[in-house]
Amino acid sequence: MDLVIRNARLPWGTVQDVGVENGRIAAIAPGLGAAAREIDAGGSLLSLPLVDAHIHLDASLTVPERTTNRSGTLLEGIERWSQIKPDLTVDDVKTRARQAILWEVAQGAGAIRSHVDVCDERLVALRALVQLRAELEPVVDLQLVAFPQEGVMCYPQGQRLMEAAIEAGADVVGGIPHYEWTREDGISQLQWLFALAARHGRLVDVHCDETDDDQSRFVETMARLTAIHGLSGRVTASHVTAMHSYNPAYAFKLRRVLAAAGVSVVANPLTNIVLQGRFDEGPVRRGMAPIKALDAAGVQVALGVDCIMDPWYPVGTGSLLRAAWMALHVGHMTGQEEMARVFQMATAHGHAVMRPGAPRELAVGQPADLVVWDATSPVECLRLLPAARWVIRRGNVVAQTQPARREVRVGDAMVPLELVPESGHRSG
Ligand code: FE2
Repeated sequence: MDLVIRNARLPWGTVQDVGVENGRIAAIAPGLGAAAREIDAGGSLLSLPLVDAHIHLDASLTVPERTTNRSGTLLEGIERWSQIKPDLTVDDVKTRARQAILWEVAQGAGAIRSHVDVCDERLVALRALVQLRAELEPVVDLQLVAFPQEGVMCYPQGQRLMEAAIEAGADVVGGIPHYEWTREDGISQLQWLFALAARHGRLVDVHCDETDDDQSRFVETMARLTAIHGLSGRVTASHVTAMHSYNPAYAFKLRRVLAAAGVSVVANPLTNIVLQGRFDEGPVRRGMAPIKALDAAGVQVALGVDCIMDPWYPVGTGSLLRAAWMALHVGHMTGQEEMARVFQMATAHGHAVMRPGAPRELAVGQPADLVVWDATSPVECLRLLPAARWVIRRGNVVAQTQPARREVRVGDAMVPLELVPESGHRSG
């Protein structure tokens, strides 16, 4: 054997040795013989690698160094991205994307599908990622989608750019029908894309109905085209957030059609929970007190964990920071200043709720109740959910945690990796 992972707890609970030969699992049994390399899992879980089925690596790590989003909305995001697109270079895209990929690998990902914006005469991002796909093949399976961020039918040269992207090495045909100017153009886009995919033997992964508009119904057309072109199992509808706005009868029909056609769905919970529902006026049911509106009205808002592994909430660790992270998402508080405000809710506001009239701040004369985080700013704290390195009460250390130490393979060496941009520009 080349590698034996000893005492690995398999997902179904039994503890076994797993032997590897020529890059494949050769044996799963207790007490396997010696191998060139051995890892003792010590009873820890062994699973398949995580798969990130949807990311935009070309735009990764551009905030806050290159641009920001004041409102935190999807449309401002597209606008900000198109403003910095002309300045992209192959080296710049590769540097940022490589970093993002290594972060994912270090956290358990074995495969990544990246959409790459091809609404760019130079196809800079795609050329960069095609190079990276080959360079990083030893550490990750990277798949590239030709993604027409600004449309195909209504964007100048949109069709020619998509064809050029396939020529340049994109693995998957992407799309964005709801972004075209009219419904008819959206349908034409899908018809044109599916023909392109069928002609070149490519998979399909379309940003479809990523809107709250209950009249955005392109995904049914995707199902029909999947059947017409015989592409069952080879087509993915990404985002499909309009589904949460459909009436129950239509939604029922649609689920049946998608299953029958063999169309997969990729959901993006982190981004869509902050981007969608922004036009809702009320009632906006997010399952949480409307903290953003309350805060804007001058109400003091603090946060709680509520439950840890109990009959109402079977997960949880008692991390208030994690509650704050969720509040940022569910509360639509991703605007640049809003994020720092969430951290205040998790700290000073909570003190004010518990001890009215004795406001806390970090200042001389105040009680020495303090935390040192493995992060450099409140916003970075919310991004990293870092270790609380030292927790201090009345001047005494009452808890301490070693931060995680990560390493990734670069060439032949394992090198240290921190989840902060190499540029040194950290969040917030
Ligand atoms: Fe996306």
